[in-house]
Amino acid sequence: MKPLTDFRTDTVTRPTAEMLAAMQAATQGDDSRDGDPTVIKLETLAASRTGKEAGLYMPSGTMTNLVAVLAHTSRAGEVLLERSAHMLNTELGGLAAVAGVFYKAIPGTRGAMDESALREAIRPMTRNNFGTALICMENTHNGAGGAVLPLAHMQMVHELARRHGIPVHTDGARLFNAAAALGVPAVDIARHTDSVCFCVSKGLSAPVGSVLCGSRDFIERARPFRRMVGGNMRQAGSIAAAGIVALETMVDRLKDDHAAAKRLAAGLHGINATLVNPADVETNIVRVSVRASGRNAAQWAEEFSARGIAVSPADSGSLRFVTHRHIGNSDVDAAIAACAEIWRKR
Ligand SMILES: Cc1ncc(COP(=O)(O)O)c(C=O)c1O
Repeated sequence: MKPLTDFRTDTVTRPTAEMLAAMQAATQGDDSRDGDPTVIKLETLAASRTGKEAGLYMPSGTMTNLVAVLAHTSRAGEVLLERSAHMLNTELGGLAAVAGVFYKAIPGTRGAMDESALREAIRPMTRNNFGTALICMENTHNGAGGAVLPLAHMQMVHELARRHGIPVHTDGARLFNAAAALGVPAVDIARHTDSVCFCVSKGLSAPVGSVLCGSRDFIERARPFRRMVGGNMRQAGSIAAAGIVALETMVDRLKDDHAAAKRLAAGLHGINATLVNPADVETNIVRVSVRASGRNAAQWAEEFSARGIAVSPADSGSLRFVTHRHIGNSDVDAAIAACAEIWRKR
């Protein structure tokens, strides 16, 4: 049987032949004890691509976000973040359960926090209050269908935070998708945040890992927290090697994934305009509303699966398609044809 065409996520991307060769040839130092040259090379490259002084390699995006919160807050104070942020909705309460901070969800539009609500939520430290310890952004914004935060918004948040002496962390799991969509280097995004993490394991196709970048002092503070949450690795050069190839060879092609997503959105819009507004699709994520069909997202996902297409329900009334290196135009066209058939059957 033909394997499913997998639109559920870009983490399904497999390492390239070049990555596998680099992994085999990688150094085998102990990242935790003496440092490993390949890991150090990835961290240095990540820092230079984000314009920061230093980087810290970890197994996952969830861990880089958690360690960033720990290092910025030292387990006290309030974290402000947009209400549909991945850190808030999908990282299983690590903010509160592990980092020991409390949070305030700020309403937003397409992932960008409402400025007046954000201003209102900032609290100073007083004798009875820890105050706001950290503000977080997410770019691209997963819950907002891969929306890209405007640079002016990021600048506004960063300047506001700075005026209050509050650090800013950005969950840039798909930072290079945001950069591709804006047509700027990632440095131009990362300049509006004190720390940023990005994943090499998503559209960039490496098998494992995320890098947290920031000032040298911040990264030194983050190191013991990485150890605390079990993120200290040993012969991590084998996996870091693929991350280096990811940064060197996979960034430029992300625009192809965005073009595939736009092709998909245009095709689905042609079936019925309520399904998706193509103007909302900025990167490699397409949120499709199936509410008007009278059937829920789980039923739609089953129908797609019966036609060889894997897609995730995002909520009861919408599906999430993610394009990536293994999705070509013919796969997109097959998904559009399947959608037309399912729509007719409703
Ligand atoms: C915006 C965002 N942040 C963080 C993560 C977490 O990454 P990981 O799955 O590597 O923990 C994801 C994963 O999809 C994500 O989309």
